[in-house]
Amino acid sequence: MTIKTIVFDAYGTLFDVNGAARIASAEPGGEALARNWEEIAQNWRIKQLEYTWLRAITGNHIDFAHVTADALTWTMEKAGLDSPELRARLLALYDTLPAYPEVREVLADLKAKDRNVAILSNGTPEMLDRAVESAGIGASLDAVLSVEEVGVYKPDARVYDLVQARFGGNKDEVLFVTSNFWDVAGATGYGFITAWVNRTDQPRDRLWSRPTHVLPDLSHVPDFA
Ligand code: LAC
Repeated sequence: MTIKTIVFDAYGTLFDVNGAARIASAEPGGEALARNWEEIAQNWRIKQLEYTWLRAITGNHIDFAHVTADALTWTMEKAGLDSPELRARLLALYDTLPAYPEVREVLADLKAKDRNVAILSNGTPEMLDRAVESAGIGASLDAVLSVEEVGVYKPDARVYDLVQARFGGNKDEVLFVTSNFWDVAGATGYGFITAWVNRTDQPRDRLWSRPTHVLPDLSHVPDFA
């Protein structure tokens, strides 16, 4: 088995989704988040993902920018936060989330090995373009693939089909890297080799398949490619 293509999930894998609430909490206007930014970040993420799954199952697709905004509306209401300015700031920060510290070097290493390197994400092309630009990683990426091409969210197989549609090759020549266990389950079941990035030592979800590799961060991804 030779890995020819390495595909990364975006949010939570390359980009730190807690970054928006964390950064806002330290800014003027973000005082209301100082005590509970972690809970806000977590609820926002969980709601966002729930909405993607429910929309995928029922065929009620709207894009990830709308889902992300809807999830934030729920999260702020739940926390009793009623500030349009803070909401706008959090959404703006979501477009320029910080990349994890090792991301640039890992992507550059993979490119130097002459592999295909790509993102496959629920994000819209516009959201992903802004995040890639802000992180300065565009030169190491051959493709930024968005679910908007198929109008359904992961883990629908039509999303994973986008990888072979772009790069060809066999499924077992693709290493799919994600911090989301449910995305690992989807991609492994689909036939990709997978790496689960478990930064915070979470238990594995009890789903239908397990990752090929489990990694504490992205730094060893090039060892498997
Ligand atoms: C993504 C979400 C699932 O980037 O993290 O696709």
